[in-house]
Amino acid sequence: MALITWNEKDHGTKVGFADDEHKVLFDLLNTLYDKAISGAERADIGKALDALIACVVDHFAHEEKEMQAKSYGGYARHKEEHDKLVAICAGLQTKFHAGEADVTDEVGQMVKGWLDSHIPAYDMLYADALNS
Ligand SMILES: [Fe+2]
Ligand SMILES: [Fe+2]
Repeated sequence: MALITWNEKDHGTKVGFADDEHKVLFDLLNTLYDKAISGAERADIGKALDALIACVVDHFAHEEKEMQAKSYGGYARHKEEHDKLVAICAGLQTKFHAGEADVTDEVGQMVKGWLDSHIPAYDMLYADALNS
């Protein structure tokens, strides 16, 4: 079963590009999680981890660019949240490729929990500004 499933009520932001990119992120997270908990080859898990993190970084940059373009007041606080997750991801990525950490169930749950909380608490709030 998928770790995370996009639905309008919990994840819809009313901003087209954000919803589209969130759906791609969810798919990449589900792929990584399935590989990690089913004991796929380590190299395969590493590729899925890199793909997810690259997509997260691109998505955050896209949101930040759009928020700045509209002089959105919540930009700085929002970017702080992005930066915190990017730092966690970069740390995990480095450790994973050094053979010092694995992608565990807890890692999957942590990223799912972050998305489930960040999207309603931060992303949904920029809708009016970005759609103006
Ligand atoms: Fe987002
Ligand atoms: Fe965000």
